[in-house]
Amino acid sequence: MRYLVAIFLFIAATVSAQEEGNDIYYDDFICPHDFGFFPHPIQCDAYYRCENGEPQFKLCGNGLAFDDRNDTKEDCNYLFAVDCEGRPELEPAISTTNCPNLYGIFPDPVNCAVFWSCWDGEASRYECTPGLAYDRVSRVCNWMDNIPECKAQRDAMQQNFACPAPGELAATGSFSRHPHPDDCRQYFVCLDGAAREYGCPIGTVFQIGNIDGLGQCSDPELVPGCEDYYGDLDLRVLRGLGLK
Ligand SMILES: *[C@@H]1O[C@H](CO)[C@@H](O)[C@H](O)[C@H]1NC(C)=O
Repeated sequence: MRYLVAIFLFIAATVSAQEEGNDIYYDDFICPHDFGFFPHPIQCDAYYRCENGEPQFKLCGNGLAFDDRNDTKEDCNYLFAVDCEGRPELEPAISTTNCPNLYGIFPDPVNCAVFWSCWDGEASRYECTPGLAYDRVSRVCNWMDNIPECKAQRDAMQQNFACPAPGELAATGSFSRHPHPDDCRQYFVCLDGAAREYGCPIGTVFQIGNIDGLGQCSDPELVPGCEDYYGDLDLRVLRGLGLK
């Protein structure tokens, strides 16, 4: 009888130790098939590699999660691309400069137009064209006024600019274009009194037209004050990279 009690206490202690540790490794994982890759029961960035029915615990890169849709594939993908339903736990985040996790795509906390693509903790910087900002939900560049997180930055940019009152510009009607006060490449389009910020294609700047409210993107050499906007940048290289 004393022997049985001792065994019972031992089992209880083992279970509670596992629960306290939180990083439950399920050493007792049973391979559902002899070979393949199978999700951890509760942790989305962990999985098991089974070989001859022997499980081996594995982790995805920090910020990635295990895609369990095909158990013949060892597939770790961006967190946003994986369905973690029912296995919500993750390893603690490991961060480096500009990367909250070692892997992922992250908005810049200060500049709404900038986002960082992180791979193994190495950050690559990307910037949307002027007037656009990185959309946290769809993860593409989108109009700044469609992105709630960018409201403060948008307001700051536009506070020095007000569209003419409707009807004020006889020549252009309800649609007009206006230069940005701080940036040669950017301009505002007013439609029925509402401003939206646009950017000229790379290599060009906004040229004020002969009539107030008109203008177009032009060669910097044609726009006094903006001749050196691109400095020594080799525009052919930038276009080749698709950084328009
Ligand atoms: C799983 O992946 C393997 C290897 O790429 C492929 O041959 C197989 O068709 C896939 N199965 C399903 C159900 O998609």
